[in-house]
Amino acid sequence: MARLNPVFVCSACGGETLKWQGQCPLCGEWNSLEQRSAARARPAAAAAAVTLATQPAAAAGRERLLSGQGELDRVLGGGLVAGSVTLLGGEPGIGKSTLLLQVAAHVGASHPVIYASGEESVAQVQLRSQRLGLSGAHLGLVCETDLAAILALAAERHAALLVIDSIQTVQSGTAGTLAGAVSQLRECTQELVRFAKASGCAVILVGHVTKEGTIAGPRLLEHLVDTVLYFQSEAGSRYRIVRATKNRFGAANELGFFAMSGTGLKEVKNPAAIFLARAPEAAPGSIVTVTREGGRPLLIELQALVDRMRFGAPRRVAQGLDANRLAMLLAAANRHAGVTLQEHDVFVNVVGGIEITETAWDLPVLLALASSLADRAIAPQLIAFGEIGLTGEVRPVPYGDERLKEAAAQGFRSAIVPKDNAPRRPVAGLAVTGVGRISEALDAVLRQAATPA
Ligand code: TYD
Ligand code: MG
Repeated sequence: MARLNPVFVCSACGGETLKWQGQCPLCGEWNSLEQRSAARARPAAAAAAVTLATQPAAAAGRERLLSGQGELDRVLGGGLVAGSVTLLGGEPGIGKSTLLLQVAAHVGASHPVIYASGEESVAQVQLRSQRLGLSGAHLGLVCETDLAAILALAAERHAALLVIDSIQTVQSGTAGTLAGAVSQLRECTQELVRFAKASGCAVILVGHVTKEGTIAGPRLLEHLVDTVLYFQSEAGSRYRIVRATKNRFGAANELGFFAMSGTGLKEVKNPAAIFLARAPEAAPGSIVTVTREGGRPLLIELQALVDRMRFGAPRRVAQGLDANRLAMLLAAANRHAGVTLQEHDVFVNVVGGIEITETAWDLPVLLALASSLADRAIAPQLIAFGEIGLTGEVRPVPYGDERLKEAAAQGFRSAIVPKDNAPRRPVAGLAVTGVGRISEALDAVLRQAATPA
């Protein structure tokens, strides 16, 4: 016997409470609780459990579909897993539909695929696929927002891949609210997850990103799906980065690189130096670092600007980096190296629109700040990386050798790195200076400064 319990669901955060209140106790939004009925049925039979040791057949059934885009497969951990649900988030116009149409056409050459668009007409999608030179013998395009109809079609065709563009435009009859409402998003996603698990069809959902940069329906959908991918780019750049922020079937934080062209997205197989379009003459505040963001060495330019503060409290603005860590660096620079920026506004930017989450950028950022403050350019053929500790020591980072080799391969001539990262055998063409403290690093970089003031 099913018993109906009323619950109240917040339309802003999706949280549930048992009694109605004017303000959601979870996210603090006013007037956002809507009543819903939760069916509580007593289970008819005990669930069946499978012992891990006796499961080889089930594991083998998790075959992967290759997307035709090596960079996307890499981020997914080796392709799309059958029965998995992937959420692809990104700002409007960044290329989500383009990429997924390319994937759908590739998979659709050999497997049944349904591409359901709730945003564009079938004619528009066809026009785009013609422009991209795409075809897929088993690719079915459908312009539909009714989820039940889409799922019925996918089931009928035994689809191996179902693309929903976008989750905000589909609607499920059971949720009883408008498309895009949080309860609808949750209901539709849950239905799609059930469908994927039951049928073995891989499902990709497009999710619009809010101004704050999260997929609309704050974090709600991320918990429901297996893999979350974000599409990022810098304004005006043709490069696109796909980052896995969650992946049940592969490494999280893997990065894939693409370039937008006249004929769709092209993967960038060797992204090491794509963000290094520097001005020919060295400028104060600019430095190149080698990051291992996303599992590969990447050369990235960091820029810092310090400017005498005009009024109020000094500003600290970090683009692509953690602002709290920047504050820590500024304190360490002040205490341990005499680089005092308490009366300066500080701006730091990672060129290329990439976000760096590792700590190897500590040392190069500090050097860039010092360079901007002294108005002396750092030698353009120099790279630096290293973590900085609270006591002013420069700490080693993983994959030191790999970073140095990549820098040398890209034509860099000198490196300032933590002394524990200094290679035992010299790297051809690269003069490596190992430093133990911030002050040593500053001495070393200003000795190599390009244009002494
Ligand atoms: P789109 O895939 O529609 O973005 P999203 O689905 O994320 O909103 O991408 C649209 C943008 O991409 C549009 O500004 C035009 C550009 N574009 C190209 O530059 N080349 C192409 O081949 C295609 C199809 C689109
Ligand atoms: Mg689109």
